[in-house]
Amino acid sequence: KGQTMWGGRFAATPSDIMEEINASLDIDRRMAEEDIAGSRAHADMLSEMGIISFDDNEAIQAGLDQVLNELRDGTFPFRRELEDIHMNVEARLKEIVGEPAGRLHTARSRNDQVVTDFRLWTRRALDHSARLIGGLQGALVLRAEEHAGTIMPGFTHLQTAQPVTLGHHLLAYVEMTSRDWTRLSDCANRLNESPLGAAALAGTGFPIDRDMTAEALGFARPMANSLDAVSARDFALESLAALSIAATHLSRLAEEIVLWSSAQFSFAQLTDEWSTGSSIMPQKRNPDAAELVRAKASLITGFYAGLQGAVKALPLAYAKDLQDDKRLTFEAFDTFDLCVRAMTGMIETIRFKPENMRAAAAKGFSTATDLADWLVRELGLPFREAHHVTGSLVAVAEGKGVDLADLTLADMQEVHNGITEAVFDVLTVEASASSRTSYGGTSPVRVAEQVAQWKQRLGLE
Ligand code: ARG
Repeated sequence: KGQTMWGGRFAATPSDIMEEINASLDIDRRMAEEDIAGSRAHADMLSEMGIISFDDNEAIQAGLDQVLNELRDGTFPFRRELEDIHMNVEARLKEIVGEPAGRLHTARSRNDQVVTDFRLWTRRALDHSARLIGGLQGALVLRAEEHAGTIMPGFTHLQTAQPVTLGHHLLAYVEMTSRDWTRLSDCANRLNESPLGAAALAGTGFPIDRDMTAEALGFARPMANSLDAVSARDFALESLAALSIAATHLSRLAEEIVLWSSAQFSFAQLTDEWSTGSSIMPQKRNPDAAELVRAKASLITGFYAGLQGAVKALPLAYAKDLQDDKRLTFEAFDTFDLCVRAMTGMIETIRFKPENMRAAAAKGFSTATDLADWLVRELGLPFREAHHVTGSLVAVAEGKGVDLADLTLADMQEVHNGITEAVFDVLTVEASASSRTSYGGTSPVRVAEQVAQWKQRLGLE
């Protein structure tokens, strides 16, 4: 074991267990490219400001080129005893360029360095996740287009409520995920300030230019308070909160896929690529991917809760607790990405069963509201009275074991003598869904309009 980089005041090296608990390399090596970008910007600025020489900066930049190549081609010699990616990169730079490497850390601390890297990483991850959401939306919109006129039961309390169209149902998820998309981009905008130059916690006496490094790294501006810069992790917290909400939407859709794939519902069937079998029951076709999306949504919420717990009672400024922020954040993004990709694949390929959906929609007196509305419109009944009359008709139908549409005109007139033959026109599920043309309503015409707008927004034409 060699000397640690703080070895100046230490006589002994850390115990193995100390090294193990302290090392973050296995996690934060994923920020290697961000670390190099941050160091490049910092060194350029130091040389621009005359804090290091032009030649030292040239050497540092050339050395970082090589480090980056080694990282990319897999030859970089990682050393866990150096704790994290920051020390690994700097130590390797020293091996390559010698003395100038020692000047790179002037006016910088790992405290501002790590959170600069972390913000850069999170910014990119948010962008990537938002793109994946866009892909899922595309899949949903195309299936909605295909099923703009497919009738299915709409539920409240999981009891049949009114007929809706499958296209409308799928577009509900497009709306939800579009808010998720904007939440992620809000997070990316808000996090986009540079902590670099905050140094350990108090700023530095060197004449640095924080605007210059902020701009080089694509940040909108430097953070205004050095203590805040090194301590704040709300950018990660809100990103995980946004992921957790987005995953909640995926989970609701996953739950519907599970329900719809059951023999009892039989509204849909996942294809072979998105199902698993049972080792004992040959007939089984299990929706495992959907179930896992459902479970993983909660894991993401757990990563959020873990990070919130790590941060909530930390006095300012940096404490090592903040090292575990990356583990949680990376896990949350990885989990989310997998869930979105699985959901996109399922939606692209799932086979809907329109006949079964239609048959289910016709059960459970789903057009009772249409009947009540007809009584209001055609006979001028107040809605409350129409509701009551319809309730009685449902009771009659239930008693006879038939659907509303199967009652005779005589049955109907016994309950209300004003009812005419024309009532039967509104009792089909198609008529019911088609009549709901209010803005945002379920009628196939409205769904087609929304599909067209979404295709345009998503660039699907
Ligand atoms: N590996 C550390 C982290 O991820 C880097 C910052 C270390 N700073 C310190 N003062 N020990 O947080």
